[in-house]
Amino acid sequence: RQHIGKIKTSCTEFDEMMGGGIESQSITEIYGEFGSGKTQVAHQLAVNVQLDQEQGGLGGSVIIIDTENTFRPDRIQQMVEGKANELGIELDYEEFLKNIHVARAFNSNHQILLVDSAMDLANELKDSDKPVRLLIVDSLTAHFRAEYIGRGTLADRQQKLNKHLHGLQRFANLNNAAVLVTNQVMSKPDAFFGDPTKPIGGHILGHTATFRLYIRKSKGDKRIVKLIDSPNLPEGEAVLAVTRDGIVD
Ligand code: GTP
Ligand code: MG
Repeated sequence: RQHIGKIKTSCTEFDEMMGGGIESQSITEIYGEFGSGKTQVAHQLAVNVQLDQEQGGLGGSVIIIDTENTFRPDRIQQMVEGKANELGIELDYEEFLKNIHVARAFNSNHQILLVDSAMDLANELKDSDKPVRLLIVDSLTAHFRAEYIGRGTLADRQQKLNKHLHGLQRFANLNNAAVLVTNQVMSKPDAFFGDPTKPIGGHILGHTATFRLYIRKSKGDKRIVKLIDSPNLPEGEAVLAVTRDGIVD
């Protein structure tokens, strides 16, 4: 068994709550309402994973399965510039962009297949100077939610999601990679998906994602992240801010 790696989030409290950062060989789920900051956290980790270990990264590259077309290269540039200022070093954002492999998923079946493509790419890069150490699925559930409508399809959807999550866990194990998935909770009750405070996918996701984080808006650019579920860490809360430079204390 390989040594578990940790990717820092750029927020000290958040890292402390996570026992050092987002772990490899695990799935971390971050859920919250629209605009709560899930995609921002994902972008920040796509930058941070590339940093050296002493800078809070794993010296690796990242694959993003983008289901909502929300990946923004210009946002990566801002975050890299922010990180360069913070660390007092020079960083080339174009190098960072090269190590972010984005695949758009057009529907849920395609999304599941893209995990196989991710595995192929990770194998190709295994002995390179930037092995894949992070896989992001943003959003994990949007396609499933749009495609599986009506009570009769619930079991089907859960079975598919379950299969998908097993593929992701396998990716995490075989590549000693962290897997980050986002999941939206609705601000208004939904006739089919039920309780608005519960993440879509509910039960099954709850048992598969190793770490579960709930993010919500606070005052101004502040966000509160709560660790809901973890195999070995106490529940806790952390306050972060989303700024031009990215995630900060
Ligand atoms: P959904 O995908 O809709 O569920 O939302 P999300 O949780 O992914 O939200 P996202 O991470 O996209 O957060 C959007 C919020 O992040 C915005 O309302 C802004 O507050 C902040 N944000 C996004 N881009 C920037 C930026 O370039 N600069 C700054 N300062 N804040 C930004
Ligand atoms: Mg988003």
